[in-house]
Amino acid sequence: MKIITSVKAMQKEVQMHREAQKSIGFVPTMGYLHEGHMTLVHTARKENDLVILSVFVNPLQFGPNEDFDSYPRDFERDEALAKNNGVDIIFYPQVEEMYKDSFSFEVKVVNKVDVLCGKKREGHFDGVATVLIKLFNITQANRVYFGMKDAQQVAIVDSLIEDFNFPIELVPVSTVREEDGLAKSSRNVYLTEQERKEAPRIYEALKSAVSYVLNGEKNTKTIQKSVEEHISKYTSGVIDYVEVLSYPELQAVQELSGKTIIAVAVKFTKARLIDNITFDVEA
Ligand code: PAF
Repeated sequence: MKIITSVKAMQKEVQMHREAQKSIGFVPTMGYLHEGHMTLVHTARKENDLVILSVFVNPLQFGPNEDFDSYPRDFERDEALAKNNGVDIIFYPQVEEMYKDSFSFEVKVVNKVDVLCGKKREGHFDGVATVLIKLFNITQANRVYFGMKDAQQVAIVDSLIEDFNFPIELVPVSTVREEDGLAKSSRNVYLTEQERKEAPRIYEALKSAVSYVLNGEKNTKTIQKSVEEHISKYTSGVIDYVEVLSYPELQAVQELSGKTIIAVAVKFTKARLIDNITFDVEA
């Protein structure tokens, strides 16, 4: 496994593989890798000749009061995990090279951002889109792998690829969960012991809401309320949002029909957890 830290060296390496007709699978990450990331790597490994994983904590997608400085980082651990799971190249650039002082552009996402995390984290998806435009150009990948845990990100990347004509296939991969149902996340380490016990109740709330829908409940507000009540009753977390939307359009609807997402964000003492469930509602 190679570790490449400069953009030029990465571009040179990629060019060589493209000339040799190798297919490239790309897994963008902010490091502190966990099983969720490894599932993306395993899927990419099966579908491509070469697997590139980037580790870059992107300052542009953190707000002024968010956890950029304290975001967990452990490159040695990431390196070992990547190596043992079949990554061929880690791209590990520095902020100074990715965003030079002379950087002259601003990317603005104008659709699908006024809901869910986009509504709460102004500018977050502008930062995500900016770094992905750079990473797609640098890695020249054929396929890019994203976890459905951040379903809004997947929906926005889908539009990014479409709108800017990137010749790259988006491969969404199902959320990886702990045995008790908690979605894996780098931020789970910040839960207290008690919060960690409560956190699986979030997914439980989502699953029971889906069963109400399958039993005939189509009213968005009723579904939303059932999720809120479950989370408030069984956890000490503070609900940031519970939203029920069409997917991947992320449009509010009154009566459910077609592909739907229920997505939540819950704040605990030191961690804000997100989770979602997508499902089809028959008309
Ligand atoms: O999902 C993430 O970890 C980040 O948003 C991404 C896609 C690596 C961009 O920085």
